[in-house]
Amino acid sequence: MKAVRLLEYDGPLVFNEVPTPTIASDEVLVGIRYTAVNHLDLVEASGKARQILPIDLPWIPGHEFSGVVEQIGSDVAAYAPGDAVFGTTTGTGAYAEYLAVKAMAIARKPSNLSFEEAASVPVASQTAWQGLFTHAHLKAGQTILVHGGAGAVGTYAVQLASNAGATVIATASGNDEAYLTSIGAGRIIDYRKTQFEKVLQEKVDVVFDLVGGDIRRSLLVLKEGGILVSAVQPVSQEEAAAHRVSGMMMRLAPSGEMLDRIGRLLEDGTIRADVATEYALEDVTRAWEDLAGSLPGVHGMPPSGQAAARRKSHGKIVLRVA
Ligand SMILES: NC(=O)c1ccc[n+]([C@@H]2O[C@H](COP(=O)([O-])OP(=O)(O)OC[C@H]3O[C@@H](n4cnc5c(N)ncnc54)[C@H](OP(=O)(O)O)[C@@H]3O)[C@@H](O)[C@H]2O)c1
Repeated sequence: MKAVRLLEYDGPLVFNEVPTPTIASDEVLVGIRYTAVNHLDLVEASGKARQILPIDLPWIPGHEFSGVVEQIGSDVAAYAPGDAVFGTTTGTGAYAEYLAVKAMAIARKPSNLSFEEAASVPVASQTAWQGLFTHAHLKAGQTILVHGGAGAVGTYAVQLASNAGATVIATASGNDEAYLTSIGAGRIIDYRKTQFEKVLQEKVDVVFDLVGGDIRRSLLVLKEGGILVSAVQPVSQEEAAAHRVSGMMMRLAPSGEMLDRIGRLLEDGTIRADVATEYALEDVTRAWEDLAGSLPGVHGMPPSGQAAARRKSHGKIVLRVA
């Protein structure tokens, strides 16, 4: 099968033929239609975080996908060949024509989503769901501040929090205001012009951090007993305690069951999936440059001239595989 591989840390991505994977009894073989790119792919490939995010080289990147079940393992009862599915990998393998994946890590593709849209959903939506509900225990009537509200994870956080009955404030570029308002944000703070802690008059119950930076600024705007959940950096327990709040860094623990619940919200139109840009799998290097530009400096990858420009559309960058 055709696959994108990284042969050495920080090396180029190569596109070549590799053996098609075989499946274990609890796995399915998925013919991948689309995959999506994540900042984590770039971090893992760079080797800069290899102590905490090791990869086995040569490595096929790819944390999420949509596709069609080709084969099922002997213990798999929930799926049959021909089923349209989407899901997450164990951190490897989706930039390829076929993927062997645990049946418990996938869900049925929402019928109203294209394969392109479905591939954009699993990582961002589950990160938002877990950040809001598993870790921050967000409830109706509470107020949440989402940093990076217009990003891939942020747009799910805004939609899910709003749907849960919370008041949503988001930091984002000012020209994302209309978009974010349309998906449920009550207030946008333009991070390019304003320091959020200087303009927020009332304190919030939850901060969901998808950007990073000085966490003390976020701790300052939390109510006593509030919580800061960061998807991007550790939170000092001493600093949090000094502000009489709690804080934690989350790491996505995906599940097919959670994805199935999210799939139903997509299917009934409660939330929506957005694709920013589509590239062919062969053009993965351009896709990575595009993504690197959205969090300049965070990955230590200096953005190229093109990548330094702000992406014009919202949502994920997807790769067309078949
Ligand atoms: N812990 C986990 O399990 C987990 C899972 C998924 C993702 N993540 C991490 O979460 C982060 C966000 O991921 P993503 O896929 O949502 O990224 P993304 O789609 O690239 O979105 C990044 C967003 O951040 C905005 N932004 C940049 N600087 C900002 C600032 N100072 N204040 C407010 N917004 C700012 C950008 O807006 P402009 O374009 O207008 O600058 C963009 O909308 C990444 O670091 C990713 O690695 C962690």
